[in-house]
Amino acid sequence: MYLTHRVILAFIAVDQATAIQTPIFAPSSGGSNSYNLKWPVKKVAIIGAGPGGLLNYREFTQAGFDVHLFERDYIPTGNWHYTEETPVDAAIPNDDVSIADFAPSLPPEGVRLPYEEVYQGKESKDLLRKHRGPKPIWATLHSNAPAPIQQFTEIPWPKGTDWELPHDKIGRYVRAFASYHGINSNDENPHLSFNTRVELIEKRYDDYGEEAGWTLTLKKVVKIDERSSKARWYTQDFDAVVIATGRYNAPNVPNIPGLAAWAERFPGSLRHSRQYRRPEPYVGKNVLIIGAANSGGEIARDLNPHVNRIYQSVRTFLRRVPSNVTLVPEIKRFLPPASTIEGSGVELNNGTLITGIDSIIFATGFRYTFPFLPQYHNSSITTSDDDSSAHPRPIVTDGTHLRSLWLDIFYIEEPTLGFVNMNIGTPQSFTYAEYIAVALTKVWAGKAFLPSTSELWRQQRERVEELCGYGPHFQFIGSEKTE
Ligand SMILES: Cc1cc2nc3c(=O)[nH]c(=O)nc-3n(C[C@H](O)[C@H](O)[C@H](O)COP(=O)(O)OP(=O)(O)OC[C@H]3O[C@@H](n4cnc5c(N)ncnc54)[C@H](O)[C@@H]3O)c2cc1C
Ligand SMILES: NC(=O)c1ccc[n+]([C@@H]2O[C@H](COP(=O)([O-])OP(=O)(O)OC[C@H]3O[C@@H](n4cnc5c(N)ncnc54)[C@H](OP(=O)(O)O)[C@@H]3O)[C@@H](O)[C@H]2O)c1
Ligand SMILES: *[C@@H]1O[C@H](CO)[C@@H](O)[C@H](O)[C@H]1NC(C)=O
Ligand SMILES: *[C@@H]1O[C@H](CO)[C@@H](O)[C@H](O)[C@H]1NC(C)=O
Ligand SMILES: *[C@@H]1O[C@H](CO)[C@@H](O)[C@H](O)[C@H]1NC(C)=O
Repeated sequence: MYLTHRVILAFIAVDQATAIQTPIFAPSSGGSNSYNLKWPVKKVAIIGAGPGGLLNYREFTQAGFDVHLFERDYIPTGNWHYTEETPVDAAIPNDDVSIADFAPSLPPEGVRLPYEEVYQGKESKDLLRKHRGPKPIWATLHSNAPAPIQQFTEIPWPKGTDWELPHDKIGRYVRAFASYHGINSNDENPHLSFNTRVELIEKRYDDYGEEAGWTLTLKKVVKIDERSSKARWYTQDFDAVVIATGRYNAPNVPNIPGLAAWAERFPGSLRHSRQYRRPEPYVGKNVLIIGAANSGGEIARDLNPHVNRIYQSVRTFLRRVPSNVTLVPEIKRFLPPASTIEGSGVELNNGTLITGIDSIIFATGFRYTFPFLPQYHNSSITTSDDDSSAHPRPIVTDGTHLRSLWLDIFYIEEPTLGFVNMNIGTPQSFTYAEYIAVALTKVWAGKAFLPSTSELWRQQRERVEELCGYGPHFQFIGSEKTE
């Protein structure tokens, strides 16, 4: 069977159990026009224990692979793990996208692995927080998709479940699914490593210099007591890697003139939406929210009854913004900071000045990044640049979109790297990840075949043309294509 848009969609159409048990078509080889894996796939690493990683764990385990799942957080749940602990301040100006989530932390050169270090006091606390990456959700967040399409098909929500679900209910549901499959943090499952961040994925070569798979550099950080923690680095080899690390790890902050000086002068007053938790710190204040998509609109609604005034800087369109916020155009520049933030001014694109702001929230979105794959990042390639002569072909350029992934799943140059939930135009990520898991297991088991590499690149070029080039819209295959 060749995998095409249509076949993936055939998977979507087929009942999950049927898709697992009765491959639609299972030739012993893919024929001369199909891609043959360079090495057999038996050992599979899965990165991330959100809905996507958990579903892949189930699928790969049931298909007989030797699976290991790595998660930087201390429990499964992914994006739905709410904590009062917040992510660290976003870099202003933006860090290079390859390190915008984290800069890979590697053991000192030349040390024998496994290698350990112990940390004390503030250093220990900071390390634990950065290592696990607190998630970008707030106390009152509810889902924006109806419950019936935000579910694992195996465990449907009971009839009568509210359509809008509070985040903690989704979080518990995700952990219930994990428990059901023995992949919760209290299952003592030897195929799981929590508190373990994937720092680096490198191509591995055999004794003859032939490509043979992947080596992961892993860092596990555990708390020893309230004051100290321990980091341990080690490596592990795999034949293929499922990357289910989510899309909302790296904040995006627009490079507005003058902003860096404000960030330096008023560090506690500038926050990214991923750090927002609750309205209390903003009571009675004047808040400027930059961006008015889902995060910007919902944070405005959450703050609205508690603050003095909300200015919302809108660029293109707005969603769910309350009617009594003061909408303002894009910000042209931040004037040189005065001694207080309230006394400092912001100039809008239409020339108007605003002063008296107490706090700023950047609801300006996220960037795609895979810090553990620096070899496939190249931020000197701009959105309009062609990359066909680059070696290796980049996956991430400026972070607004992803390249070189067929159907946003298989890395065309080396399809033993598989990506989960990277398309934003497909059905909800819970459902979408189930079909991706089926596609990945079939191809890596040799039961379904990708078209040849040249055909994949041809289709990729066609997609670039059809979508009028790269940009944030590029990861939007959209509903017509998924019919
Ligand atoms: C504010 C907000 C609201 C949302 N609301 C909805 C909604 O209403 N409905 C909906 O369907 N979706 C919503 N989403 C999207 C949400 O991301 C998906 O529902 C879902 O969580 C995606 O699952 P995932 O497994 O692909 O990624 P995630 O849930 O993000 O999980 C990724 C996991 O990978 C781990 N990880 C990352 N890097 C590493 C590493 N280097 N090493 C080890 N582990 C790593 C992370 O710790 C995380 O646990 C929302 C997202 C945000 C930010
Ligand atoms: N309840 C929920 O379920 C819920 C709540 C929040 C978020 N989410 C999800 O989380 C994901 C991220 O959402 P998000 O809202 O954080 O990010 P987002 O969708 O990427 O939106 C960021 C917004 O910031 C705007 N922006 C960027 N730079 C700007 C500038 N200089 N001035 C003014 N505006 C600027 C962008 O405008 P342009 O479009 O012009 O670039 C865009 O509208 C989405 O998938 C969303 O659906 C869900
Ligand atoms: C906006 O209206 C809400 C009621 O809908 C009110 O609670 C809030 O104080 C108002 N906010 C502002 C900034 O005027
Ligand atoms: C600029 O925008 C602000 C906020 O929308 C508005 O109050 C002001 O009148 C505008 N100024 C001009 C010159 O259009
Ligand atoms: C990144 O791309 C640029 C432009 O194509 C190229 O010159 C450069 O060598 C690339 N860098 C890396 C590290 O591959």
